[in-house]
Amino acid sequence: MDKIEITGGIRLKGEVTISGAKNAVLPLMTAAILSSGDSNIHNVPHLRDVMTMGKLLAHLGFGFHLENSKILLRTKKVTSIDAPYDFVKTMRASVLVLGPLLARTGRAKVSLPGGCAIGARPINLHIMGLEKMGAKINLAEGYIEAKAKRLRGATIYFDMPTVTGTENLMMAASIADGTTILENAACEPEVVDLANALISMGADIEGAGTSVIRIKGVSRLRPLDYTAIADRIETATFIAAAAITGGDIRINGGRPEHIEAIISKMKEAGVKITLKNNKLTVKGPDRLSSVDIKTMPFPGFPTDMQAQFMTMMAIAEGTSLITESIFENRFMHVAELRRMGADIRIEGSTATVKGIDTLKGAPVMATDLRASASLVVAGLAAEGTTVIDRVYHLDRGYERIEEKLKMLGAEIRRIK
Ligand code: EPZ
Repeated sequence: MDKIEITGGIRLKGEVTISGAKNAVLPLMTAAILSSGDSNIHNVPHLRDVMTMGKLLAHLGFGFHLENSKILLRTKKVTSIDAPYDFVKTMRASVLVLGPLLARTGRAKVSLPGGCAIGARPINLHIMGLEKMGAKINLAEGYIEAKAKRLRGATIYFDMPTVTGTENLMMAASIADGTTILENAACEPEVVDLANALISMGADIEGAGTSVIRIKGVSRLRPLDYTAIADRIETATFIAAAAITGGDIRINGGRPEHIEAIISKMKEAGVKITLKNNKLTVKGPDRLSSVDIKTMPFPGFPTDMQAQFMTMMAIAEGTSLITESIFENRFMHVAELRRMGADIRIEGSTATVKGIDTLKGAPVMATDLRASASLVVAGLAAEGTTVIDRVYHLDRGYERIEEKLKMLGAEIRRIK
């Protein structure tokens, strides 16, 4: 397993370009299932999760090719309707083939995703929605077996906003018979990106980005040719890296309108963020101020930035309260930050972070994608050397992160 070694204390300087968003590209790839022909997706990051989804689509009989940040998907015919456990257990987003496969072929057999490091993460809301659209679903030996001659439009209310649940049902509804209303739908930018892609394929969708989405089923969709949005969490992670090292960087390609809650909290913590001819300029203060956050569905503060922000608060002036309201176990990074000297106490879903002067480098272990990002941010600021183990978690969601950080002056290297 690769490790990453960082010698901290260097103020980051220079310019970085943000890659395409993993959580936009994954549903865009499964949207291609809804059409028969050749689809292209642009601005694709070279990530493990993208390759895993590509392999899954190839398993279903589709042609998949990724080169120079562009995916070619050939979805002429489906030769399997089965998404086996091997794929789903490595990447929960595999569940995004369920809606499109069922809508296109009338059948789908998808392994139930196991839990994962950050929580149980059931998919009951995905299943509830498909049943409302007329699907017959039974769960056997860890698999979801879904059947539907023709899905029909329905009004579906989500008990809580679910990103991939909204995406799965929006895709299924786009070629169903009649109109579907999704209520309490997720509003994330990646949901809007998927809706825009489906509309470019000929779908009739209104309201994406709000909590009520209306989808009027059409008989068929054209293949897609679409450019994914930039990764808002990668953008925010680089802001955190500049903030914590007292750096001064420029970020190309980030979309400030996708990270308003984060920018507002970063400014409260003393980070100077300005937008100059479409580039974000980020200047970190000599000492960060402590700020309270509570993770919420979009447009609130995203759960995917909770760990990275906690790392910043670990060396801020004062005490901050960090409440994780989306996942039940997303504090796996706390034990690792404590090894670096952080003073963090957890009570239920709230962590109390008492700012200390500086973190100390140490050997630490990544447990999930965003926790590993928080350890990189910690290593950049810590005195001495930090070695992060199990960086395959990092490779799932960050394209060439050590090269990008090296370009900003960080002393960082990958140990094979
Ligand atoms: C998406 O996961 C993202 N993944 C996650 O990013 C992100 O953390 C999460 O949304 C929240 O923003 C992708 O887009 C591929 P949810 P998803 O369904 O869709 C509960 C990363 O780091 N829930 O919005 O799986 C669930 O347990 C990943 O890139 C149900 O109870 O998240 C959670 O508490 C990590 N039943 C809450 O809703 C359901 O049927 C939100 O989950 C579905 C969800």
